[in-house]
Amino acid sequence: MNLAELQTPALVVDAERLEANLLAMSTALPGARLRPHVKAHKCTALARRQAEKGHRSFTCATVREMVGLAEAGLGEDLLLANEVVDPARLRALAELDARVTVAVDSEETIVAAARAGLREVLVDVNVGLPRCGCMPDDAPRLADRARKEGLEVRGVMGYEGHVVGNPDRAAREKGCEESMTKLLEAHAGVGGDVISAGGTGTYDCNRWATEIQAGSYALMDTAYDKLELPLQQALSLWCTVISVAEKFTVADGGLKSLGMDHGDPTLPGARVWFCSDEHVTFAPEEPLRVGDHVRLIPAHVDPTVAYHEKLHLVSGERVVDVWDVDLRGW
Ligand SMILES: Cc1ncc(COP(=O)(O)O)c(C=O)c1O
Repeated sequence: MNLAELQTPALVVDAERLEANLLAMSTALPGARLRPHVKAHKCTALARRQAEKGHRSFTCATVREMVGLAEAGLGEDLLLANEVVDPARLRALAELDARVTVAVDSEETIVAAARAGLREVLVDVNVGLPRCGCMPDDAPRLADRARKEGLEVRGVMGYEGHVVGNPDRAAREKGCEESMTKLLEAHAGVGGDVISAGGTGTYDCNRWATEIQAGSYALMDTAYDKLELPLQQALSLWCTVISVAEKFTVADGGLKSLGMDHGDPTLPGARVWFCSDEHVTFAPEEPLRVGDHVRLIPAHVDPTVAYHEKLHLVSGERVVDVWDVDLRGW
């Protein structure tokens, strides 16, 4: 099949660029130095490609991602880098044919994990991002509590998400060091072999974590493109031009097919005016005709992928494979 035959809007992945990104990362962070985060692509076929590159441990954000990876035979070492208290979901994790570690940051999450029959945890530490994670000086107490509940504490995790997108390299490095100082302080009182942290924006400057949880690196987006990392935009939304006016042109990609929390998509050779539910309105440098196709580059990969059921792998104009986005949902 050719690109022109695809029903639009369709999410397409440039196969050569994807391969280059996977290779660049596995060269920089070989094997277990990278614990790829699957939240960015939600696709077991892509996770398998990461495993083939030597990364056999994965990071997940949802129970669904954990279950899907285990069922796909990719459950050698799965980390749920997120808090869960629902007993039924935790029991489902405990029953997986997989090595399962979950993040805990409170007595409630520790007790829930132990009661569900889970065996291994990481203490999740707040290193500056106002999201989950205990205060660094509370981590040793929580680790003791987890051990009293019979849990194995593998170490700590702490995501410097407030730092990873800073385009100023020096500020990013400084912010990363400050966050990791907090994580190491917590680790000193917690123990264990694992210090898990990092993302695509800090994969090449986080020297303190034993493993990096980068995910966006495989497909990339325009927010990360500002960081000038040696990684390429592999993901785009293939759209059809559906209306042409004197001053603007409209294609069939919009809020319901693009994650917009990092801003408008980019369209090379055009100025994007705005997106609405099913439309993107833009001013092209060269006139387009109704029925022409355009490729929008998403500003944020994770929520964009989560809107779609398929990733279409393309090489030039040819669709060479179609992968299910099979880890969607919760
Ligand atoms: C816990 C956690 N670790 C790591 C990441 C890194 O992801 P990315 O590679 O997109 O920076 C994220 C992204 O949101 C995350 O939530």
